[in-house]
Amino acid sequence: MSDKRPRRTFAVISHPDAGKSTLTEALALHARVITEAGAVHGKGDRRATVSDWMAMEKARGISITSAALQFVYRDHVVNLVDTPGHSDFSEDTYRVLSAVDSAVMLVDAGKGLEPQTLKLFRVCALRGIPVITVINKWDRPGLSPLGLMDEIEQQIKLRPTPLTWPVGEAGDFRGVLDRRTGEFVKYTRTAGGATRAPERRMSASEVDEADVDSWATARDEHELLTLDDADHDQQRFLAGETTPVMFASALQNFGVAQLLDLLLDLAPAPSATAGVDGTLRQVEDDFSAFVFKVQSGMNSSHRDRMAYARVVSGTFERGMVVTHASTGRPFATKYAQSMFGRETNVVEQASPGDIIGFVNAQALRVGDTVYEGDRIDYPPVPSFAPEHFVTASARDIGRYKQFRRGIEQLDQEGVVQVLRSDLRGDQSPVLAAVGPLQFEVVEERMTNEFTSPIRLTRLDYQVARRTDADGAQQLSGFRGAEVLQRTDGTYLALFVDKWRANNAAREMPDVLLEELPAGG
Ligand code: G4P
Repeated sequence: MSDKRPRRTFAVISHPDAGKSTLTEALALHARVITEAGAVHGKGDRRATVSDWMAMEKARGISITSAALQFVYRDHVVNLVDTPGHSDFSEDTYRVLSAVDSAVMLVDAGKGLEPQTLKLFRVCALRGIPVITVINKWDRPGLSPLGLMDEIEQQIKLRPTPLTWPVGEAGDFRGVLDRRTGEFVKYTRTAGGATRAPERRMSASEVDEADVDSWATARDEHELLTLDDADHDQQRFLAGETTPVMFASALQNFGVAQLLDLLLDLAPAPSATAGVDGTLRQVEDDFSAFVFKVQSGMNSSHRDRMAYARVVSGTFERGMVVTHASTGRPFATKYAQSMFGRETNVVEQASPGDIIGFVNAQALRVGDTVYEGDRIDYPPVPSFAPEHFVTASARDIGRYKQFRRGIEQLDQEGVVQVLRSDLRGDQSPVLAAVGPLQFEVVEERMTNEFTSPIRLTRLDYQVARRTDADGAQQLSGFRGAEVLQRTDGTYLALFVDKWRANNAAREMPDVLLEELPAGG
């Protein structure tokens, strides 16, 4: 019997410190976590488990690639796909977004929109992923709520349509006005926010004397928003024109249940997905999934390799033999796991929207499709505008063959982009990445997996622009720039900074110098 409960698969996009881990825990607290052995055990060792997970991230230098936290809420199965965050912002952080149907943009009320959030938001926009905005830390002094709405509209060009509006300014969080019902949802603090925070719903006439002034302000602002056409419209939300907004304090557990309700009520369920040839795979068709992330070296005692895939259609059953689209070969799924934090669980069955991890999946690469029944091949996961560049060379020239094979493999997997030029030759190609920690992954895998330790030398470039063969010629000799070619044939002009790039564009208006989109 396949699991027919509806799915919601989403990710949280945020800047480090906005409260993503706190929110994740709070969400799990409200829900029944399916992966019982997973990250959340309940109140007692709540802190310990999360810090374990982080310690492990630190020890490895890379995210532990927690795949997804799965839980049940109101008879829905919710998959929270983890975006590796913190300092190891990398291609993986972006790629996770190809595996979700919606995103929660978590904003620190005291800081507003921050760079990493904006970068991730752009990927969502490019991929048409609807975004729900949560203004977090309302229990602390912060910006004004209307000011924050302005900032969102200015910076990301989405119309914010608040569903709740704070009663009490930032730092004096009394509750929210539910803009759909007009009720006051009053919050009561609990020690440490470790239990579900009690909420009391009341009509306007029941508001306590002590809250009357804050309530009046909230009501005024709510009316202003209505006059300004800032009410939720489901069609516009799904079309990526608006973002529903809510106010919360993840730490105090305020607004967390509302967020879950919102996800269930508004966020899209998994839907039909098109293959490269345009064929549409319906969710109820035969099983298919695509790999959005590959990680190896998670267990140093043996060579392992996990390929994380999102189920697009059909039902996955452990032990199924599926077809690997890019090779046409059979792939046995004897070992499939779900994973979050430290614990892994064997997956017996998975439905569209769920994330599965294939163990020892040497053959699977990022972007690969596996399927049963009619052939389907999903589009490749896009590459991203790199901002960090190094040259790589084999430490032991006698192992050049292994070096070349390793670099080729990491390029194909999308761990890094490999750039070459006649000038630099094949012995020391340039590696380009979104985040610098990606290079540590390369070093580790080159040493342990491909047995060719490498030497990486940082290059001063920070910006890549797309150009063409003609541009490559014209830019040769231009100070502070270098043109290299990516394996897919694209010419990339690298510049020390964006000022040089803009200057080159000004001085050579005929040369193609196109910004690379943050997701393609
Ligand atoms: P991240 O995963 O997005 O990086 O953020 P994380 O949850 O680790 O939260 C970063 C800091 O912000 C933590 O404080 C956390 O307690 C705090 N925080 C998260 N949500 C809220 C909130 O709603 N209100 C308030 N006031 N603080 C919040 P820390 O001091 O770095 O860690 P800790 O010692 O408190 O654990």
